[in-house]
Amino acid sequence: MNVLEVSDVDVHYGRNRALHGVNLTVARGEIVGVIGETGSGKSTLARTVLGLARPSAGRIVLDGEDVTAYRARQWRALRRRGVVQYVFQDPLRSLDPELSIADSLIEPLLIRGVPRAEALDRVAEYLPRVRLDADLLPRLPGELSGGQRQRVAVARALVTEPELVLLDEPVSALDSANRVQVLHILQDLRDTGVALVFISHDLGSVAGIADRVAVLSQGELVETGTAREVVATPKHPYTRLLVSSAPTLHAAPADRARREELRATLLNS
Ligand SMILES: Nc1ncnc2c1ncn2[C@@H]1O[C@H](COP(=O)(O)OP(=O)(O)O)[C@@H](O)[C@H]1O
Ligand SMILES: [Mg+2]
Repeated sequence: MNVLEVSDVDVHYGRNRALHGVNLTVARGEIVGVIGETGSGKSTLARTVLGLARPSAGRIVLDGEDVTAYRARQWRALRRRGVVQYVFQDPLRSLDPELSIADSLIEPLLIRGVPRAEALDRVAEYLPRVRLDADLLPRLPGELSGGQRQRVAVARALVTEPELVLLDEPVSALDSANRVQVLHILQDLRDTGVALVFISHDLGSVAGIADRVAVLSQGELVETGTAREVVATPKHPYTRLLVSSAPTLHAAPADRARREELRATLLNS
């Protein structure tokens, strides 16, 4: 069964169309990468699935429930159940600066009615999974490094044992050591059976983790395939551009002239 079905979705901001005819399904436990350049509509897609932006056309089914016409109250109830969680690029946006790490982590469980002592036990279980020490628990987010904060945000997204976690550029603000660490943590989550939608502008970050990759360009999904297919035989010109400009995917450095040529072709198409 699919945890997420996005069918023919359009999203407008005023008269500006940010998504057009987007179709995307995510199966239970599947890791789907969504890649595309800045402004291609990646965050809009995440926001729409979280009920923070409203589709002007199409249908969204989350964990078997058609949420397309949900009102704010229904979204709040759905979020309280913790079926879908999120991690944003800037962990300070998902963490309250005035709450200790412990309080931030137990909050989603308290909201679901889990008693405090049990919530603390459950949080302690999740710390090793995100490679955090328990001595961080009494601290405030401002006292942690960016990498530690992002791992706290990942732990917070997991404690309710959601079916689906949306990660919008989770490693883009991290230095390379922290980026690698968070990518490993995401890879390890495969065993837990949680489905992930991993959004990035960088194909290199996504390709090693995702079962499938979907490519967004100017609000449209132009290509979907296994990570291997998309990297080895990109079909759409925009995907070819992405592949050629992800140096970590190639033994040889990306060919700049070829990239410029592709970009010029794209801009003229
Ligand atoms: N709140 C908003 N109001 C108006 N336009 C927006 C808003 N958020 C995004 N957009 C526009 O929608 C398009 C897609 O943006 P976004 O989803 O943020 O792309 P990405 O995350 O891929 O960079 C862009 O043209 C952007 O300017
Ligand atoms: Mg974005």
